Amino acid sequence: MTTMSSDFTLSTLLPGAVPAMPVASATPVMQLENVSVFYGNYEAVRGTNMAVREHQITALIGPSGCGKSTVLRSLNRMNDLVAGARVAGKITFHGQDLYAPDVDPIQVRRRIGMVFQKPNPFPKSIYENVAYGLKINGIKDNMDDRVEQALRGAALWDEVKNKLKTSGLALSGGQQQRLCIARAIAVKPEVILMDEPCSALDPIATGKIEDLMHDLAGTYTIVIVTHNMQQAARVSHHTAFFTAELDEAGVRHGRLVEFNDTGRIFTNPSDKRTEDYITGRFG
Ligand SMILES: Nc1ncnc2c1ncn2[C@@H]1O[C@H](COP(=O)(O)OP(=O)(O)O)[C@@H](O)[C@H]1O
Ligand SMILES: [Mg+2]
Repeated sequence: MTTMSSDFTLSTLLPGAVPAMPVASATPVMQLENVSVFYGNYEAVRGTNMAVREHQITALIGPSGCGKSTVLRSLNRMNDLVAGARVAGKITFHGQDLYAPDVDPIQVRRRIGMVFQKPNPFPKSIYENVAYGLKINGIKDNMDDRVEQALRGAALWDEVKNKLKTSGLALSGGQQQRLCIARAIAVKPEVILMDEPCSALDPIATGKIEDLMHDLAGTYTIVIVTHNMQQAARVSHHTAFFTAELDEAGVRHGRLVEFNDTGRIFTNPSDKRTEDYITGRFG
């Protein structure tokens, strides 16, 4: 095991950033066992083993192209929608095989929602953006209440309550992303997957989303992809560090290098590659 250089700790990176929650004890909601993801014959990510724990925030970090989005999409069967994509190994959700033949991917995506990098509201009113997910899931009653609850849950209600009929596209980038979070939580998922949700936002809007994630973690389980290490250190309880490595034949594959409590990853990683990445030596 390597130790960090003495001048580098998480607290020098980010004072007070070590999450206070006891992290190892929470129940795993999802488990990945030897998960590899292929695009055609290309094995983009190989042999991933990790757990996603209930009501906690798990961050996937690593350099561009190491397979973070690929792994994230495999967690709610979004890769089903990518031609040629295939998942090998086992992913369980509450102990059940997510890829078993009798599992309905639409139901999976209702229980495990997704928020994307670029805010993608529909060209519809704020109200309709939130109501949409409810409608396609067959929910028709108490629509006004449900929309309000989702907007409150996404910390957006006070900013939009007097203009619910305005287009979602008229909102600022940060508000649009919170609208997308409202749309995701309206259907009451258990898990929310977020793929670099702040990378298109300014620091103030980013701070609001990070605060919101912290609040949401009381109700939902969150998995976030971020290439911003400070963000991973600020918001997450667990961190999975991926990298891309060449095999004997010179082909690059994403690999999970290390998975641990976030405080541990950023202060005392057990792998030299993790240390090099978090201290900025590559990536
Ligand atoms: N739809 C796709 N078809 C083929 N290859 C893909 C596709 N999506 C991603 N890849 C490849 O898989 C690898 C991992 O990509 P990705 O998961 O997007 O990485 P990251 O999110 O860490 O930047 C990369 O080599 C990328 O080019
Ligand atoms: Mg990505």
